Amino acid sequence: MQKPILILGACGQIGTELTMALRAKHGSESVVASDIREGNDTLMESGPFELLDATNYEAIEDVVMHYEIDEVYLMAAMLSATAEKFPMRAWNLNMSSLFNVLNLAKEGKISKIFWPSSIAVFGPNTPKEDTAQSTIMEPSTVYGISKQSGERWCEYYFKKFDVDVRSVRYPGLISWKTMPGGGTTDYAVEIYHKALENQSYKCFLGPETKLPMMYMDDAIRATLNLMEADAKNLSVRSSYNLGSMSFTPEDIADSIKNHIPEFKISYEPDFRQQIADSWPSSIDDSQALKDWNWKPEFNLDDTTAEMLKNLG
Ligand SMILES: NC(=O)c1ccc[n+]([C@@H]2O[C@H](COP(=O)([O-])OP(=O)(O)OC[C@H]3O[C@@H](n4cnc5c(N)ncnc54)[C@H](O)[C@@H]3O)[C@@H](O)[C@H]2O)c1
Repeated sequence: MQKPILILGACGQIGTELTMALRAKHGSESVVASDIREGNDTLMESGPFELLDATNYEAIEDVVMHYEIDEVYLMAAMLSATAEKFPMRAWNLNMSSLFNVLNLAKEGKISKIFWPSSIAVFGPNTPKEDTAQSTIMEPSTVYGISKQSGERWCEYYFKKFDVDVRSVRYPGLISWKTMPGGGTTDYAVEIYHKALENQSYKCFLGPETKLPMMYMDDAIRATLNLMEADAKNLSVRSSYNLGSMSFTPEDIADSIKNHIPEFKISYEPDFRQQIADSWPSSIDDSQALKDWNWKPEFNLDDTTAEMLKNLG
């Protein structure tokens, strides 16, 4: 029997689908969702929910004790575009929430943690194509700095205190159930909504900005697979590179035109262009394949078909 799981930040883009996937797998009562706000009806009606601030150690500890929680998935964070506007708030949220769960595990109150990192750990000096697991990492964004520091702390807690913390560097995630929460790759979700609403989209990144992306189903499967993997096979305790597809706004527009021929895209890059320009174009995820057999299933055209079908 699965011991109880707690998800912090469960009402966001990833948390909503992760909660539903874990509930489908382990039974609703074993998966406690929590956030500082309520989520959509499907999430709220499908199992236990707690209003919980991930920066409040005592409040998390109370919930952990009450439900006899064994595993924590920490999805609360401030994302890349928003973090540039509120640097100190982003740093405080992203770091204090991570220390809270790492310290709960160090004290033996929980036994396993999932914490997501991001391709934002890389920076402008990182080789852009097929970016390696270990390479130059000089992030130039507030968000990237917090994720890179988080990775170092995860590895430190694993090595020093034997904390079983697992992580992937998610690329930009595309999904239809929940809107994205203030990242630089949000355009790749908005574009499908606008394509269906008014057959046109003004993109905040330029036409040739190639970034690593992934369909949400692949991201959820990767998360569950990594958490179920045998600990002895895991050679990376900072965070695994995770790849799927890479495309530009021009590529996604072409893919949409196969379904909606009259679709038009225009470009008006804003401050997010600079963030995108500092990130890799494609990711080498061979270590994840080797250690826990990671293989993506959705390419760009599969993603477009799924998005238009479900949003339409
Ligand atoms: N979505 C992506 O494309 C992407 C890519 C790379 C990494 N990630 C990482 O995955 C994780 C989840 O991202 P997401 O896209 O679901 O983000 P999101 O912004 O959609 O959701 C974050 C959730 O955290 C909640 N939250 C904020 N402050 C909180 C607090 N103090 N206590 C509890 N909850 C709080 C928010 O209400 C929100 O529901 C983050 O760590 C993010 O950095 C996401």
